[in-house]
Amino acid sequence: MKVTLSAIKADVGSIGGHTKPTDKMIETVKKRVNDAIQSGLLLDGMVTHTGDDIAIIMSHTHGKDNTKVHQFAWDSFIAATKKADECGCYGAGQDLLVDAPSSNVRGAGPGVAEIEFEFNQKEPRLAESFMVVASDKTGPGAYNLPFFLSFADPMYCAGLMLPKMAKGFSFEIIDMNNTDGESSLTLNTPEDYYKLTILLRDNERFGIKAIYSREYAVQALSSSTDRLHNIAGKYTGKDDPIAIIRNQGIFPAPEEILSPFVKAHYVGGDARGSHNMPLMPVPINTAVTGAYCLPIVSAIGFSLAKSGTFTQYGYVDFFDNPAWDLVRLRAQEKAIEMRSQGWSGPAMLPYTELEYSGFKKSVTDLVKQFKVKKR
Ligand code: 13P
Ligand code: MG
Ligand code: MG
Repeated sequence: MKVTLSAIKADVGSIGGHTKPTDKMIETVKKRVNDAIQSGLLLDGMVTHTGDDIAIIMSHTHGKDNTKVHQFAWDSFIAATKKADECGCYGAGQDLLVDAPSSNVRGAGPGVAEIEFEFNQKEPRLAESFMVVASDKTGPGAYNLPFFLSFADPMYCAGLMLPKMAKGFSFEIIDMNNTDGESSLTLNTPEDYYKLTILLRDNERFGIKAIYSREYAVQALSSSTDRLHNIAGKYTGKDDPIAIIRNQGIFPAPEEILSPFVKAHYVGGDARGSHNMPLMPVPINTAVTGAYCLPIVSAIGFSLAKSGTFTQYGYVDFFDNPAWDLVRLRAQEKAIEMRSQGWSGPAMLPYTELEYSGFKKSVTDLVKQFKVKKR
């Protein structure tokens, strides 16, 4: 059968600031997911949060961008928004940027990652292992470096030297600044390695939407690449990304996918979506309470059972392990270093990327007051 994995996330309000959704909000979405499983819309589903973003992770047979599945996710976020409203939560309905989505939620605010594939438990995929990586207080470009390294660099993924992966991968890159429509370019590793780095160095403009195995012509990765301010035309919160990554066998293994996150690399986002700060790996369902936020990333792994279900036998929380404690400490040290220079230079995002329109207005007002003396 053909199975689709969909991970749809949105920030629809949080308690005590941009920290985490309330228990009531999560319960509300969980109940809806259970009902959708009972009604047959979904094969299975799970609700998590990463910081203040709620993620609905689903398996079903309706394909990508399916109206019913997307509408279900949208309605669930509306239901959670009502709960956020009731308790006076901050930013209730923050990521729901339109009154109603047209045929799917793409471009309406929530982040979407989806992969459809033939699930037959035959070679080359005897078992289907997948991972959901979700972040808060950062944008889609935060994944440029780690996903590039794990799918293109044998220093991070020794599996690339094996026959099943030696042909390399195709990267679908999105120009997130193009607001006319979805502007994409596909580049192939290993031959386009340098071209990819030319684009992916710019985390604010280019993002990885999908990665495909060249040997088997199947999708390995899907990542959300919507930038909320490009949709809303103003700051409405950061575009906290979510990704689904099929792994093992013909794809990199979880350890190869996660090894670049050891860097706790600097990413755009953090407080007011306007700073550069390190990305700290955290367990699933962690609130953002770090000094000056601290961008966070969570990663959970599943196996797909015969029936297309994936929650029955539990899941693995990759970053909920002492093995990542040192990385967390390093992230905090890097954060303290960066924060020690406050607003100066690389500590803040460049003017074009400052998310708070009020800040831009102040700069523009001051620039108008400059007097030019003819040379
Ligand atoms: P979120 O995008 O996660 O809501 O964060 C917004 C913000 O400005 C935090 O300081
Ligand atoms: Mg928020
Ligand atoms: Mg958020």
